[in-house]
Amino acid sequence: MHWKTKATLQNAVSRLPSESSYATYYWLQRHFGGLRRINPVERLQAGIETWKQIEQLDHSPIDKIFFEVGTGRVPMTPLAYWLMGAKSIVTIDLNPYVKTELTKECLQYIADHVEEIEALFGSRLNQKRFDALRYLQRQDDFNLQNLFDLCQIAYIAPGDAARTGLSHSSIDFHTSFNVFEHIPRDVLAAILAEGNRIISDTGLFVHRVDYSDHFSHSDTHISPINFLQYSDAKWDRYADNRYMYMNRLRHDDFLALFDASGHTILATDPAIDKASLKMLNEGRLNVDARFGDKAVEVLATTASWIISTRDA
Ligand SMILES: C[S@@+](CC[C@H](N)C(=O)[O-])C[C@H]1O[C@@H](n2cnc3c(N)ncnc32)[C@H](O)[C@@H]1O
Repeated sequence: MHWKTKATLQNAVSRLPSESSYATYYWLQRHFGGLRRINPVERLQAGIETWKQIEQLDHSPIDKIFFEVGTGRVPMTPLAYWLMGAKSIVTIDLNPYVKTELTKECLQYIADHVEEIEALFGSRLNQKRFDALRYLQRQDDFNLQNLFDLCQIAYIAPGDAARTGLSHSSIDFHTSFNVFEHIPRDVLAAILAEGNRIISDTGLFVHRVDYSDHFSHSDTHISPINFLQYSDAKWDRYADNRYMYMNRLRHDDFLALFDASGHTILATDPAIDKASLKMLNEGRLNVDARFGDKAVEVLATTASWIISTRDA
């Protein structure tokens, strides 16, 4: 689907009254979009990658408390943390998007692809927990609460990561995966400030940000930085809705935000899209004035991990 058609559709659905808007959008995604067939692998992988980032900085994630911003439709990333040995996980979402039917499909996939899932986790998989999960999945009276109870997951939705209600120093790892690009800058600053309050002195912030134009994920005719050509006013007309909001902050903006939040950056791995870099160097994309003072390498950066600590 052409990205402008998709944007028009999302804008129209977002203008419906809240309840019918969510239901209609889910119905569309389920029948024509990315939720036709759900596969847990990508989100489990997100948890595994986050876990590895923590290990690479010589922190042990085992028996620690994780906090996830933006649960989404299926609690597969918190499940991955538990399967690898987390003590407990708090996962929070502004919208109560988690769906039982999708979660059941994910667990059915896991039951049908045991070897694939075991290979995905490798030696990090806690086999006893994996067996307990598979036992739960086979029960006729399976429900989300049983899953949350088994996996020590506290699901807070609707809930705002900027106002969690959690106690001071109560979490070890503050995480998100492909979520921060959807949140306005001032809200991100409030989320990091709240994170500073709830994280332990030795804790880490581990966030993965996807800087690409998300319309390019389904419309292959546009580049991952297509949206940089638009002014804020024009871009808002396409995507300032609850389903496709993107802040368009670039990697340097994020580093400045973490810095302003009193963090020391421990690691990043900005991924530069070579085709986008070439396009910029050849002057084939007219970048809007908002991005005009940025280096081409920054403009062509399409994703990065940002791992940080709060300064003492
Ligand atoms: C792109 S989705 C990603 C969901 C999930 N991580 C996944 O991969 O499926 C971003 C999620 O962040 C949530 N979100 C946005 N602002 C938030 C906030 N201030 N606090 C908590 N969740 C928020 C949205 O409701 C949405 O479910």
